[in-house]
Amino acid sequence: MNTKLKLGVLCSGRGTDLQSIIDAIADGKLDAQIAIVLTDKPNVMALERAARAGIKNLCIDRKSFEDQLSFEAKILNELRAAEVELVILAGFMRILSPTFVRAYKDRIMNIHPSLLPSFPGAHAHRDVLAYGVKVSGCTVHFVDEGTDSGPIILQAAVKVWEDDDEESLAARVLEQEHIIYPLAIQLYAQGRLSIEGRRVKIL
Ligand code: GAR
Repeated sequence: MNTKLKLGVLCSGRGTDLQSIIDAIADGKLDAQIAIVLTDKPNVMALERAARAGIKNLCIDRKSFEDQLSFEAKILNELRAAEVELVILAGFMRILSPTFVRAYKDRIMNIHPSLLPSFPGAHAHRDVLAYGVKVSGCTVHFVDEGTDSGPIILQAAVKVWEDDDEESLAARVLEQEHIIYPLAIQLYAQGRLSIEGRRVKIL
């Protein structure tokens, strides 16, 4: 019997974070399996990456649903049908409703391209450059009912250089994302994460 932790990965686009998880599993660095990849947009690279790796994948196009509730109900149905135990948001550019978050309480992870709680939201790199901070990075956190506000699991920092633009900064941060996201999921798979209030203890 296959008892590996079952992941459901939600993406909106390119899917390089998804790819880092696929690769970590293939390399034996992550004891988990991806049961399903779901996207909210058609024809995105993430679907192709999943198909290439032989992973079940499906677009649940937000545009075909009347409201957020029915859209999320469909996602939940698919996750449950695939017996997903941990939901991974990998470049999923939508805020999930409290109903969804409660359905998978403490079992949803997100990666955000800044050192939270600084620069939450959809334009982290732009905001980082506009503010002029000298250090940025990425954060893996559990998802709570707020936006980019849940308990932090892992973070990695990168320098911001004076000649950085959004693209160069994003690329440097992304390298770190591809290291810490599989690592955080592995810690979960090993039962080594304990949420105590706002803090996540690594056992
Ligand atoms: C990543 O940088 C991820 O941190 C970010 O989107 C990118 C997805 O890249 N996520 C967010 O901004 C969530 N608010 P990818 O599609 O190549 O994995």
